[in-house]
Amino acid sequence: EKSMASLIMIFGATGDLAKRKLFPSLYRLFEKGRLTKQFAVIGVARRSLSNEEFQQSVKDSVLTALKKDENIDEFISHFSYHSHDVADSNSYAALKNLADQIDDHYSLKGNRIFYLAMAPEFFGPIALHLKSDGLTDVKGYKRLVIEKPFGHDLESAKELNKQIRTAFSESEVYRIDHYLGKEMVRNIEVIRFANAIFEPLWNNRYISNIQITSSETLGVEERGRYYESSGALRDMLQNHMMQMVALLAMEPPIKLTTDEIRSEKVRVFRALRTVEGEQVKDYFVRGQYGEGTIEDEQVPKYRDEPMVEKDSNTETFVAGKIMIDNFRWAGVPFYIRTGKRMTRKSTKIVVQFKDIPMNLYYQTEKMLNPNLLVIHIQPEEGITLHLNAKKAGGHLDAQEVKLSFANTGIHAMNTPEGYEKLLYDCMRGDATNFTHWDEVAYSWNFVDKISEVWQKTKAADSFPNYQSGTMGPKAADELLEKDGYFWWPVTDLEVDMCK
Ligand code: BG6
Repeated sequence: EKSMASLIMIFGATGDLAKRKLFPSLYRLFEKGRLTKQFAVIGVARRSLSNEEFQQSVKDSVLTALKKDENIDEFISHFSYHSHDVADSNSYAALKNLADQIDDHYSLKGNRIFYLAMAPEFFGPIALHLKSDGLTDVKGYKRLVIEKPFGHDLESAKELNKQIRTAFSESEVYRIDHYLGKEMVRNIEVIRFANAIFEPLWNNRYISNIQITSSETLGVEERGRYYESSGALRDMLQNHMMQMVALLAMEPPIKLTTDEIRSEKVRVFRALRTVEGEQVKDYFVRGQYGEGTIEDEQVPKYRDEPMVEKDSNTETFVAGKIMIDNFRWAGVPFYIRTGKRMTRKSTKIVVQFKDIPMNLYYQTEKMLNPNLLVIHIQPEEGITLHLNAKKAGGHLDAQEVKLSFANTGIHAMNTPEGYEKLLYDCMRGDATNFTHWDEVAYSWNFVDKISEVWQKTKAADSFPNYQSGTMGPKAADELLEKDGYFWWPVTDLEVDMCK
């Protein structure tokens, strides 16, 4: 077991992410005994706060998120606060002094994690200061954890990467994609590579298409300013959706090491069919929500949200067909769709197998259903396998039956689960579930080609083109229809299991 001793500096410690996810996650690790006595946290933010006030805010956020606070006083005694000016070297010098003291006090061996939970324009400058002001000059390890967005396009991502890399090597950079912290996203590789009945069929001979849907009911909330310059393509597709595609499509790694897994994922990105110019409209569909009803509540259209332009051209929905031009996947579309203000909050993957060569068993005039493997990422976690079996009592009619497995324990959405795993991984020095620069660069390159076209051809006249509370614009259905498919309406796992 590697030493877990570490000093975690959270930049943006008074922000939303720290309160909702990071403090509760650290508490869970503490509760499970995964943090030894050798850990300490320095909260770093602009606001001036005393240590006590900061500790109180940590306590409050744990209680709010987890509804419990056993041993919380011991937990928060490991927290201190530094009021910081990100542009001022003196402020970094003071932070360094504090860090050195705390390091001595808890014998943290000079191990440091810098977690940047703040606006991306500060990532570069902070990384540069950390180096020039001596904070990275330590005898233990130094690791940088950064949240998305990693740049706005390939060019800005390169620039950001350059700045970061002057202070940290690639292996010291932990780029968060919180989908990689989700239990069932991590399960994809196990389902694929630990089952003799899937991997031999996992290719273009037996799979007809794969569908990934990540729908949300929320609108843009208070994030209009960020979202206007991002849109669904950059906010969800470039990172989370592409990561799921890579995990579904990659070759079995030689070993389960960080480098082997990440290089297999990169090979998928390298095989992506670039879609550009005139082709974009044949592969990608964008949408923007209009008003509608979500869970019986009337909600406004995107253009009426705070900080959003009245004639905004920003997409809040994207559907696309991704082709991976390699031996395994030639000809198999990966359809993806994601959006705000859709029917429900859910992320599902449907793997549709090809039809059997000949159908002997007509279900009362219907065709046999194809076999489907559904991976339920959230809110429920599990898998469902759709098979055909004889209808009991009848003649030799077939009917669809479902085998379901649900992960035990109800994982409410937005629990700190994902972050808990990722923080623990980072402390253990396991970067497997963080995105390597090459993955980031390839996926930006892919996405840039689409957004270039979308910038030029305004969709403003046809927006809004889907009603809140629906599954997106009609064009997203047509995208599959023209290939002879449709989006499988996947129900919730619990509902499936009751049948
Ligand atoms: C974030 C996006 O990365 O993912 C948000 O910026 C989105 O817009 C969120 O709501 C979705 O995450 P989850 O875990 O709720 O599916």
